[in-house]
Amino acid sequence: MTNKIQAIKFLCGPDQDHVSAQALAENQGLAEPILLQRRGYQVAWVVPQTTAVNQEIESQRLAWSQQQGLVLPAFFHDELNYYSESIDASLLMAFAIMDGEDPQSVFTTEVMLSRLGDDFEMLACSEEAVDEQQIVSIDFDAYAQGELIADDLWLRISWLSLFEEDSSLRFRFSFGLEFYEDVSLDVDKQRLAAQLCERIFPESALITQNTLLNEALRQLLQQDQLEFVERIVYLNSPKGGAQFHHDVERGHQGVVFAQLHGRTVWLVVPKLALVEQIQTYLAQQKAKSKSDSVLTSKEFESLLALDTESLGAELDSFSNNALEKLLNRSLGFNQMLLANGYGYLIAPGDIMLLPQAGEANCAWHSVFCADDYPGLALSFAIR
Ligand SMILES: [Fe+2]
Repeated sequence: MTNKIQAIKFLCGPDQDHVSAQALAENQGLAEPILLQRRGYQVAWVVPQTTAVNQEIESQRLAWSQQQGLVLPAFFHDELNYYSESIDASLLMAFAIMDGEDPQSVFTTEVMLSRLGDDFEMLACSEEAVDEQQIVSIDFDAYAQGELIADDLWLRISWLSLFEEDSSLRFRFSFGLEFYEDVSLDVDKQRLAAQLCERIFPESALITQNTLLNEALRQLLQQDQLEFVERIVYLNSPKGGAQFHHDVERGHQGVVFAQLHGRTVWLVVPKLALVEQIQTYLAQQKAKSKSDSVLTSKEFESLLALDTESLGAELDSFSNNALEKLLNRSLGFNQMLLANGYGYLIAPGDIMLLPQAGEANCAWHSVFCADDYPGLALSFAIR
C-alpha cells in the first residue's frame, strides 16, 4: 500500500479561463488544473500534488479520533478490473435514468431479475416523493426459503440538486419510514437492505469483501465485527457533487467512500476545526477592512457576531444562508482550507474514511466532480 496521497492545492481564482490556468500550472511544473465548480458557481482552479502521509496505525487512529478525513490511496486498484463489467453496467443504468428513462424498466431487465433471484421481489415504483429531488422510490420484499421476512425495504433514486446542468444521482438503500424510524434499532432489516444493494450493485463487494480493507478498519476501530449498512451509490457529475455537510446517524461510527470510476475533489474538515477556520477567516477579513465577495456586508457582520457555540449550532441547522454561501462559494475561505491541508483528490481505487462520531464532533465534507463526465462511487456507513 502506498503512503502517497493526492493533496489538492490552490492554483488561481475562477476568473482565469482554462488556457490561462493551464499555462500557470505548466509554468510551475504542476499537474493539469481542475476547476472547482458546483450548481452554477465556480470556486477556484486547483491542482493535485503528491504528498506523503503517515499510514502507521497509531497515526491513523489519532486522525480518526480527531474526526479527520483519512485517505487510503490505491487500496483496491487491481480488484477494479474484476468488477469492470458490473461497474460499466451500473454506469449505463445511471445514464439511462439521467436521460429520463423509466426506472422500473431499468430494474426489470433479465440481468437484474436474475441478480435479485428468489430472495428479493421488486414491488411497485412510487413517484410520490419524500422530497423534490427524489426521482423514484422502489419497494422490495425480502424472502428466505420462500418465507416473507421483510416487506418494507426500499431503494430511492434522487438527484443531488435541482440545478439543471447537474445530473448527480444517488441510489440509497434502507427501509421503513424515513425521518420517523431509528433504522439502527433493526439490525436484521439493515442487513437485508445492505444485501439488496449488493445484488443490484455487485461491485459493492469492493468494500464488503475486501479483506485488506476489513482488516485495516478492524485495526483502526479496534473492533472485531464490522458491518456496512445504510448504503448509497453515488454518481457525482460535472458541476455537481455535494455541498458541505456531515453524515452523522445514530448507530454509525463513520462512512467508507470508495471511488470506482472518475475522480472527486474533497474538502474534509473536522467540525471543531471548521468552526475555528470560519472564525479565523472572518477575523482576518475584518482586520483587512474587507468582507467576502459572496456575502453582503450585513451577512458578513451577522456571521462575525456569532460566538463559537452559536456558529456550531448554525452549521448544524443547515439553514443559515450566509454560512452556506461562505462554506461552498467563497474563494477566500476555500483557498484558506486548501492552504491548511484539507483538500484531497480521490481517484478510482482510493478510499476516503469519514469519522462521524456525533454532531458535535464529526468530519464535515464538500465534494466536487473533478472530470467532465460522471463518476461512480460507493458510500457505506460502518456499524
Ligand atoms: Fe457525505
